[in-house]
Amino acid sequence: MTISIRKGELQQEACDVLIVNEFEGKSEPGGATGTVNKALSGLLVKLMKEEAFKGQLGQTLLIRTEGIIAAKRVLLVGLGKKTDFSLETVREAAAISYQAIRAMKPKKVVSILHGAGNGGLTPKECVQAMVEGVRLAAYTFAKYKKQKENGIGSFDIVTNDGRAVTAGKKAIEVAELFVQGTIYARDLVNTPAMHMRPIDLVDAARELAKKNRSVSVRVFDQARLETMGAGGLLGVALGSDHPPYLVHMVYKPKTCAKKKIALVGKAVTFDSGGLSLKPADGMMTMKCDMAGAAAVLGVFSVVAQIAPKVEVHGIFAPVENMPSGKAIRPGDILESLSKKTVEVLNTDAEGRLTLMDMLTYAQKIKPSAMIDLATLTGACMVALGEEVTGVMSNDPKLANAILVSASATGEKMWELPLEKNYQKLVKSQVADLQNISAGRWGGALTAGLFLQEFVDPKTPWAHLDIAGPAFAEREYNAYTKKGATGHGVRTLLHYLQSV
Ligand code: BES
Ligand code: ZN
Ligand code: ZN
Repeated sequence: MTISIRKGELQQEACDVLIVNEFEGKSEPGGATGTVNKALSGLLVKLMKEEAFKGQLGQTLLIRTEGIIAAKRVLLVGLGKKTDFSLETVREAAAISYQAIRAMKPKKVVSILHGAGNGGLTPKECVQAMVEGVRLAAYTFAKYKKQKENGIGSFDIVTNDGRAVTAGKKAIEVAELFVQGTIYARDLVNTPAMHMRPIDLVDAARELAKKNRSVSVRVFDQARLETMGAGGLLGVALGSDHPPYLVHMVYKPKTCAKKKIALVGKAVTFDSGGLSLKPADGMMTMKCDMAGAAAVLGVFSVVAQIAPKVEVHGIFAPVENMPSGKAIRPGDILESLSKKTVEVLNTDAEGRLTLMDMLTYAQKIKPSAMIDLATLTGACMVALGEEVTGVMSNDPKLANAILVSASATGEKMWELPLEKNYQKLVKSQVADLQNISAGRWGGALTAGLFLQEFVDPKTPWAHLDIAGPAFAEREYNAYTKKGATGHGVRTLLHYLQSV
């Protein structure tokens, strides 16, 4: 499917489907939709009434034009209430329109530019949101399907505003990169763990570095990790037949960079729980436990083309968490890369054992900001549900910047506190720390506090618990179907553009 924007009059467009829109609770369409209705001699309004089209977000109405205008069909999509309208509505409306016609496999689709001018939205951001909505809606994970689907041929946004076309062209380029990064992450996460072993994540990083001159990669193997003393990573990997690695990717901008941003991703390629084995149901989606690293790799897959003015470091340590005669046991004590010791009371709380070493390593580069992404706790899903990421940070400015980027890209995130009074819950009787909380409640927070033990208070740091949003166990919205979501990639790219 090609996506483009050009100047034109919708009612004159020859195509298989012409997409127009309408807010909820309006009986007479205005703007470009109104013009199409007039060209159709009021047929659109007549059918809206007959078919009880109210304009709610999610509602669509497809009509045949019988040659009255050049378009064969018109698809009317609801935008919902004008008071609820936002950039996310634009993204969803575009995705909903795609889903409404995908089975028809139309060759040529022309769409109105949703939203520009409403609620202070610029054509540029509306075009970007539309492209994201359509492309992410079109995503399928077809690697293992014998029968491949083919979809829509071309999707053209047509507007009579010449300036919107100029701004829109640039926006399409950026949107295509945001989508490419997101889809790259989705594919990594959707790939079964049997084909996404620690070495496969290493290879993915090497591949990206080979393709881009501004990206380089260093890989530490098991022997190196042993000399370094990365006891957390090594401990988690003990039960697996696949050795662990630590991967450090670097993007350097052409001009001299003032800032270094470290992106750290949890990279457990499969989380069985280890000896503290998960029940069958809990294990079903645990190929998603490397979604943090996938988001980092997603960013690196397009970072050279996005070309932020900052140095970007991507750090992740691929390991597999398996039970075996060699696996770590509850009660074992590991010495971390930071030298702090950790009593492992539950081998299923393995993410933090790998992250503690990654965070220690990441701080060696003296980052101006360090952001980690991890499918870390079920407790975060208890707190915020499946669709919202928990953000914990020692730096209000960094937290705010992330929340602003999340909101701009439609990725749902909410701040949770690093409550000092709970710090004692991760102290051990026999070691410096223990890997589960001594209490029953606030498991997302105590996981965050455990990580904070490995962060220099002078390093601005944010921890993103993406346990819920990384992998959709049901359809979240029209552009986020069941399966990997690529959550985090667009927020990070937006953030990197803004620093
Ligand atoms: N990978 C899981 C967290 C998870 C759960 C991610 C559901 C995505 C969906 C993590 O390693 C884990 O098992 N956490 C435990 C921690 C507990 C033992 C303290 C949990 O959340 O139950
Ligand atoms: Zn686990
Ligand atoms: Zn895990």
